Amino acid sequence: MKRIVVTGAGGQIGVELTPFLREIYGAENVLGTARRNIPGPVSEGGPFELLDVRDGKAFSDLLRTFRADTVIHLAGVLSAKGEGDPLSSWDINVCGSCTALEAAREHGAAFFFPSSIAAFGPSTPAKNTPQDTLQRPTTIYGVAKVTMELLCDYYHKKFGMDTRGLRFPGLISYEALPGGGTTDYAVHIYYDAVSKGSYTSFIAKGTYMDMMYMPDALAAVVKLMEADPSKLVHRNAFNISAMSFEPEQIAASIRKMMPGFTMDYDVDPLRQGIAESWPDSLDCTAAREEWGFAPEYDLDRMTEDMLSRLKEKK
Ligand code: SER
Repeated sequence: MKRIVVTGAGGQIGVELTPFLREIYGAENVLGTARRNIPGPVSEGGPFELLDVRDGKAFSDLLRTFRADTVIHLAGVLSAKGEGDPLSSWDINVCGSCTALEAAREHGAAFFFPSSIAAFGPSTPAKNTPQDTLQRPTTIYGVAKVTMELLCDYYHKKFGMDTRGLRFPGLISYEALPGGGTTDYAVHIYYDAVSKGSYTSFIAKGTYMDMMYMPDALAAVVKLMEADPSKLVHRNAFNISAMSFEPEQIAASIRKMMPGFTMDYDVDPLRQGIAESWPDSLDCTAAREEWGFAPEYDLDRMTEDMLSRLKEKK
């Protein structure tokens, strides 16, 4: 990667990945794009342009002008929000992604796509979910993710394009709040622990999901994109996860640092249903073997860092 365009630079991953890439590759070599202006480091720390990813001409012009060799395509609508307006979610998550993929192909750029644990469904083996397995997701978000996983594989096979991607688990960070996701409870819990000392979970006790701390997710993107292509058997949609827990376990981890922390439940049927359709824990062997995936943060280490960073921000 030398000249990188990031879409969705104002989203949960983008607000951190854009500055992270600028540190590694030079601020002038990483162009952040979003549909709206994003005040702060994304628009002020390097080049920034407004872009609607469904506008193929604007996308293509921008890649040409910037002389991009890589597109990191993060723009998308998360799982629970997508259920409120499935067609609009499809339009952004699939039509927008097709436009991005095609613009990248036109300019000979490599392409990163973030798939998700949402690409699996209730018929997928839930424990130690294999890299290659049944994928019959039941959310529009998941259907879009599977579509793009397959399309990225197809573009590699058909056009020899350098497409690569990860299946992200729930991502937890102190920089930006996610919006409209199902795994978001595991972010909100830390914010509420610091501001109120208590949290009401919309995900039920005993519901396991895969998770990862944002620094490990950022490092994984760079490691995969810089990996020796001859070692990549899968290329797209690598299972990655750093931990699997249920609400009681994250609460117990918080109590180690904040003994008075309390949690109760007000389960949201929509997000609970989605969570139950996703795996409990992924098998990440392919990512480890093919490009050396090695996350650093477990639950307690993440909790310590999250709580101290959020207390600093307060
Ligand atoms: N974190 C996402 C969500 O909950 C899943 O990819 O929507």
